[in-house]
Amino acid sequence: MTGKYGPWGVVAGGSDGVGAAFARGMAARGINVVLVARRVPVLEASADEIRARYGVDVRTVPLDLSAPGALAELADATSDLEVGLFVYNAGGDDRSVAFLDKDLADHLELVRRNCAGVLEAAYRFGAPMVARGRGAVVLVTSGAAWAGGATLATYGATKAFDLVLAESLWAEWRDSGGDVLGLVLGRTDTPSLRRVLDAKGEPYGALADPADVAEAALEHLADGPTWIYGSDNPTGGSPFGGLNRRDAVLAMSRGYSASSRD
Ligand SMILES: NC(=O)c1ccc[n+]([C@@H]2O[C@H](COP(=O)([O-])OP(=O)(O)OC[C@H]3O[C@@H](n4cnc5c(N)ncnc54)[C@H](OP(=O)(O)O)[C@@H]3O)[C@@H](O)[C@H]2O)c1
Repeated sequence: MTGKYGPWGVVAGGSDGVGAAFARGMAARGINVVLVARRVPVLEASADEIRARYGVDVRTVPLDLSAPGALAELADATSDLEVGLFVYNAGGDDRSVAFLDKDLADHLELVRRNCAGVLEAAYRFGAPMVARGRGAVVLVTSGAAWAGGATLATYGATKAFDLVLAESLWAEWRDSGGDVLGLVLGRTDTPSLRRVLDAKGEPYGALADPADVAEAALEHLADGPTWIYGSDNPTGGSPFGGLNRRDAVLAMSRGYSASSRD
């Protein structure tokens, strides 16, 4: 694992939930990790836990991934490291409301973090992997990417961007030794999701365990382009594939789904 995907991994959005689970899974495999997030106390606590538990090196980079220049700053902060695995995890929407009920600035912030940031990370960190002929980029996306839906407009659109970007890069890099995986998640038990559900007063229902999600992805880095966590056929197609687009959009809007919609 360290030979193909080490000696360093980066998790953008790595201080809690799925991102922290990725970091632990990487550290358990002997990969040193760089953790990126905004809240410094949570970031440092996660880093301390991983150092103490796995004995790997951990570097923290406090950054807002939606800020202009954030990915250039991250590239600078890691320029002395050989990064063999990059996981872009940060991407949740903390307020799922009708399009016009959200500030334009919030929509644009989501696009910067989930599209521009992801693209720039793939470009900056993927290039050395392709040149070396080894490494992996994981883009975490969502069942919201399968079709449009009310209250999911910008979030779903950014997640579709991530899915198509991952699939395209997989197709371009597959002969170079660089792996790309678009990881499609359904409802997963993260602090972010709990905050969203608590704010709406909604029950949690059945949630995937972040540790299981990260393990599945780390075991299937080379099985791209797409891994649909929790599906009976994780390398298969969209659960909406049999529907016409109109019915898929109406189904998504009703909140009906598909194990992999969040
Ligand atoms: N949880 C689910 O049910 C679910 C379902 C489908 C898909 N997904 C996908 O899974 C991924 C992880 O979701 P999640 O629920 O764990 O929530 P998340 O908020 O996307 O990720 C949490 C992690 O990202 C960091 N983060 C968030 N925004 C950031 C920013 N602007 N800059 C830097 N770091 C940032 C958080 O730390 P700070 O807050 O301290 O920055 C934390 O470490 C996302 O891509 C999401 O779309 C999740």
